Amino acid sequence: MIHAAIIGMGVWGQNLVTSVQGLSQDIQFVAGATRTPAKASEFAAQYKLRLLDSFEAVLADPSIDAVVLATPHSMHTEQIVAAAKAGKHVFCEKPLGLDHASTQRAAQAAADHNIILGVGYNWRYQPALQEIRRMIDDGRLGKVLHIEGNFCGPSVYRFPKGHWRHASDESPAGGMTGRGVHVIDAMMYLAGPIDRVTAQSYRLAQDFGSDDTTSMMLHFTGGSTGYLGTVIATAETWRMQVFGSNGWVEVGDVSHLHTWDLTTCMIDRSNVTNKQKPVTTSFPATSTERAELEHFAACIKNKQPLVTPDGDAVRNAAVLEAIIRSSTTHTTVQLG
Ligand SMILES: NC(=O)c1ccc[n+]([C@@H]2O[C@H](COP(=O)([O-])OP(=O)(O)OC[C@H]3O[C@@H](n4cnc5c(N)ncnc54)[C@H](OP(=O)(O)O)[C@@H]3O)[C@@H](O)[C@H]2O)c1
Repeated sequence: MIHAAIIGMGVWGQNLVTSVQGLSQDIQFVAGATRTPAKASEFAAQYKLRLLDSFEAVLADPSIDAVVLATPHSMHTEQIVAAAKAGKHVFCEKPLGLDHASTQRAAQAAADHNIILGVGYNWRYQPALQEIRRMIDDGRLGKVLHIEGNFCGPSVYRFPKGHWRHASDESPAGGMTGRGVHVIDAMMYLAGPIDRVTAQSYRLAQDFGSDDTTSMMLHFTGGSTGYLGTVIATAETWRMQVFGSNGWVEVGDVSHLHTWDLTTCMIDRSNVTNKQKPVTTSFPATSTERAELEHFAACIKNKQPLVTPDGDAVRNAAVLEAIIRSSTTHTTVQLG
């Protein structure tokens, strides 16, 4: 059993705790630290967490094996480095970092101090997304030609003026940091690294806060293309459609973290003019939060690295940085 502490006990920090507490044989939260303990004291009592005074107090506590970071985005990389130096394993919410250099430095600190670093890209734990990966691996989908994605919702209306989510250094390129990075991670899982982006990002709905309308074209090293939009001043929706040389698959428009349906439509090679009927497959409800935390615990047990300095989570930060640069300079940005 991994004994973890939750750092940042807001909406998502509490959700991560409840996803495993009393339900998992592999990981259990024993402590927590947050900026305003009074806001979390009832929750801590309910879930039997010791509330410590500070992040530093957690790092100094030898009974804690791992920290789970659910803090504002700009704090992630420094907190990872500090935890790695203290010998604590770290599971960090997305995005791992907001630029490539600091994110790579954090992943390198984890490697240097022999701790396991995990990241909250929970879409990868969706059975439907894993099935698309299998359809690519075994050739059913054919060559991946193009991926379309969006991840939208009313985020900007949820947070009042002055909330950290509206700060330009916390949510650059609008919905990319809160939402779009998940789709980028899923796209890289299916089509490999991204090497070119052209993005635009604007604030259209309100006169304060983060951008709300962000879109981009993507090019993958393997030759596939993609586009992605994230509109965070509209109603909740998301969708990803992967076009292969044998047909297409689509996920989306259902309760987003729990049950994904998968719709597939394949070409009839014996009669390509024959319009095919899409087929929808359902998968059992899955707690992707519990799955990602249990996988993190298993990797600690097996000393198996998760996030590495040259892996997808660090590349995701490079893509995010390129999207921010492209949207501010109005140019296409090539990634190294
Ligand atoms: N994987 C997913 O699907 C998913 C979904 C939602 C969020 N997340 C991620 O989870 C992380 C936390 O997001 P959240 O929605 O839980 O945010 P939140 O509700 O605002 O919680 C943030 C927590 O960090 C604390 N904090 C510490 N220093 C802070 C500072 N300088 N400014 C503001 N807060 C500070 C807050 O303390 P106070 O109590 O004093 O405010 C609060 O407990 C983010 O990385 C976010 O992207 C992931």
